[in-house]
Amino acid sequence: MSLDTEYVWPPTWLSPKAHSWLPVDWLDQIQRVVALINGKGGVGKTTVSANMAGLAAANGQHALLIDANAQGNIARELGYRKSAIDDKGEAFYESIRRGRPLEPARDVRPGLDVVVGGSELEGLGSLLNSMVGVVGPAANLALARCLVPIAPDYDLIVIDSPPENAPVERLVLTTSRYLIVPTKSDDASLDGLGMVADRFTDAKALNPDLEILGVLLFATGRGSSAIRRDVATRVKAMLGDVAPLFDRVVGHAEKIAKEARTKGKLVFELEEHRLDRLRNPDDPNRRKTPIEELAEDYDGIYAQFCQMLAEHESTAA
Ligand SMILES: Nc1ncnc2c1ncn2[C@@H]1O[C@H](COP(=O)(O)OP(=O)(O)OP(=O)(O)O)[C@@H](O)[C@H]1O
Ligand SMILES: [Mg+2]
Repeated sequence: MSLDTEYVWPPTWLSPKAHSWLPVDWLDQIQRVVALINGKGGVGKTTVSANMAGLAAANGQHALLIDANAQGNIARELGYRKSAIDDKGEAFYESIRRGRPLEPARDVRPGLDVVVGGSELEGLGSLLNSMVGVVGPAANLALARCLVPIAPDYDLIVIDSPPENAPVERLVLTTSRYLIVPTKSDDASLDGLGMVADRFTDAKALNPDLEILGVLLFATGRGSSAIRRDVATRVKAMLGDVAPLFDRVVGHAEKIAKEARTKGKLVFELEEHRLDRLRNPDDPNRRKTPIEELAEDYDGIYAQFCQMLAEHESTAA
C-alpha cells in the first residue's frame, strides 16, 4: 500500500449526512447491483459470482464483478492472479478510503470488468469501523459513493462478499439492490442465513430498496427433493416468505470446480474447451458430460435470475 502524506483523517467527504456526499438519485443508480452473500464460508459465493457475471458478459451484457474479499479468489476463478491487473485490491481500498470512483480492470473477459480484490483489503474492515466511529452508520454507504459514478456504464454489477466479516458485509448490503444467498444444505451453512437476516434489517434503514432475490443450493445433489424440502422449510423459518429457492441447484462437482479454478476458467469456458473433443451431436444416446451438466446448472440459474430481475423490475415500475 502506498504511503500518502496528503491524506487527512477523517476525510473531508465523510459526514454523518450521507446525502451530502451521495447524489440524491443514488438508489436509482444501484438498481442493477446484485450481491452474493452468506455469513458462512465455503458456500459458493465466489464461484457463483464469477460464473454469473461471466455468463452475463457472454450474453451481451456489460458486466462488472466486484471482489470484496481479502482472499481475492475471483483472481483464481478468472485466471488473472499475479498478472499485471492483480493489484491485490490496492486500488479498491484506496477508492473507499478517499471516496473516489472505483477503477475497474477493463475487459478481463469481453464485456466483463472487475474491481480487483485481494490481501490489500485485509484492513478494509477496520477502516470501515473507524469510519463508522467518525460519522455513524452512514459510513456503510462508502462503497455506494465509489460505485454510483461508474454504475451507469453497466447492465449488471455483481458483488462477491467475504465470509464472517461484519463491516464488509454491511458495506455490501447497503450498496446492493438484490441479494442472492448461496448455501450448502448443512446446518453450519444454513446458520449463515441467520446472519444475513440480522444484518438485512439494519441495512434497509439506509438502503430501503434492498431485497433478497433468492436462496441458491450449492454443491448439492441435483435430484434430491428431500434436501430441497428441508432447506426450503428452514429458509422460510429464518427469512420468511421473501426468499424463494432457485429452481436449479449448483450440482456437486468438486473435481470440475478444482479444475476450473486451477485453469482460471469459468465453467462454460471449460465446457467449450472440452466439447470439441467429446461432443458427437449426432449420437442420440450420448450422455452429457459432468462439465456440460454443471454448465447447464449455471445456464438455468442465470436464466432464472434474469427472469426474477425482470419480474421485480416490472413490479417496481
Ligand atoms: N459445483 C461444485 N461442487 C463442489 N464444490 C465446488 C463446486 N463449485 C465450487 N466448489 C468448491 O467449493 C469451494 C467453496 O467455493 P467458493 O470459494 O465459491 O465459496 P465461498 O462462499 O466464496 O467461500 P469463502 O467464504 O471462503 O469465500 C471451493 O473450493 C470451490 O472450488
Ligand atoms: Mg469466496
